[in-house]
Amino acid sequence: MARFTLPRDLYHGKGSLETLKTLKGERAMVCVGGGSMKRFGFLDRVVAYLEEAGMKVEVFEGIEPDPSVTTVMKGAEAMEKFQPDWIVAIGGGSPIDAAKAMWIKYEYPEITFEQMCVVFGIPELRKKARFCAIPSTSGTATEVTAFSVITDYEKGIKYPLADFEITPDVAIVDPDLAETMPKKLVAHTGMDAMTHAIEAYVSTANCDFTDPLAIFAIKMIQSDLVDSYNGDMTKRASMHNAQCLAGMAFSNALLGIVHSMAHKTGAIFEDLGAHIIHGAANAMYLPKVIEFNAKDETAKKRYGVIADYMGLGGKDDDEKVKNLIAYLRGMNDALNIPQCIKNYGADSYPCEQGFVPEDVFLERLPEIAKNAVADACTGSNPRQPSVEEMEKLLKCCYYDLPVNF
Ligand SMILES: NC(=O)c1ccc[n+]([C@@H]2O[C@H](COP(=O)([O-])OP(=O)(O)OC[C@H]3O[C@@H](n4cnc5c(N)ncnc54)[C@H](O)[C@@H]3O)[C@@H](O)[C@H]2O)c1
Ligand SMILES: [Zn+2]
Repeated sequence: MARFTLPRDLYHGKGSLETLKTLKGERAMVCVGGGSMKRFGFLDRVVAYLEEAGMKVEVFEGIEPDPSVTTVMKGAEAMEKFQPDWIVAIGGGSPIDAAKAMWIKYEYPEITFEQMCVVFGIPELRKKARFCAIPSTSGTATEVTAFSVITDYEKGIKYPLADFEITPDVAIVDPDLAETMPKKLVAHTGMDAMTHAIEAYVSTANCDFTDPLAIFAIKMIQSDLVDSYNGDMTKRASMHNAQCLAGMAFSNALLGIVHSMAHKTGAIFEDLGAHIIHGAANAMYLPKVIEFNAKDETAKKRYGVIADYMGLGGKDDDEKVKNLIAYLRGMNDALNIPQCIKNYGADSYPCEQGFVPEDVFLERLPEIAKNAVADACTGSNPRQPSVEEMEKLLKCCYYDLPVNF
């Protein structure tokens, strides 16, 4: 038996933010990030609409990118004081993910972060509040997913929380919010979405309900992402939907080791002055992981289907896989994303020698590989890597080497 779960309601299209006026409740806690939503007037609109719905509103601001356990605990305390019956999270994946974790802690004040991390082990929510998510980036699709990614900065590790309990009740996918994204954010979040769709399609948990969502999302992202990056707002709106479809697929089909590797490399070099941004990490690792996974016959066939849908040509599955890899690398080039960690600058742009020196990378490699294999996303990858293989794969991602094992 398998389960397929999505939010009860999804409002989409330009101006759909206004639907907040129709939420029924007494008190809404609005969770938001560092300032973009305020600067562009969306936060004021959210508060006004909720007040029009007759609710008392309090705002929890300042949720940082890649939110920390500390922020989650602080937010839960604020909720405990205010006692909301609606949690409305607006912004990128970071504030929405943080709000999801705050929600768990608000409903179960005794729960520890370790207990929240037990995959599909979150106790029944909605005894105190329901959850509405409004994305302002086009990538994570956290507005429809059963996931939340929280960073433990003491360990330098990102932990994915996973349970259908944290799938939001209401998602509002309004493309107006995506229009203000700077180019770099469009690129990174867009390749995150492409990775979600491809990993979901080849995941061992794929099914008839997730495949159409994944494959259609791939096609849309192929057609829309680069143009959206170059300023086409019609394509930008289409990307906002595409990332959401990809999210519906991966929330139910799960992901694979591109995400395991991104989770374990994202914050581990933080002491050197930068993060490897989630979407950029995925974009660099995806072609390498496809090369690795394609040694599994079932996965190879599925990559072949993806290549066919994308119209990439190829006389057999081997050639189709090659064409798919070349196409994705071409997208990275078009989006100004480096192909490997060695060339990943502190500003995320390609450069000769990036911010992660070779010796530091090699020194931390065994730990990263061990953690990546243990990541919650590894279980549904079509090929199970040993720690040794994971080390080799990560080396290919550092030096941009072919994957021949
Ligand atoms: N829950 C999931 O299913 C899931 C899936 C993939 C990734 N993630 C996690 O989500 C996080 C990344 O989220 P993200 O990529 O959406 O970025 P983000 O939320 O971290 O935001 C990045 C920056 O963009 C700014 N920003 C956001 N929207 C904007 C807009 N419309 N205009 C201008 N600036 C804007 C923010 O203020 C912030 O400074 C990571 O922690 C990642 O691990 C979660
Ligand atoms: Zn992702």
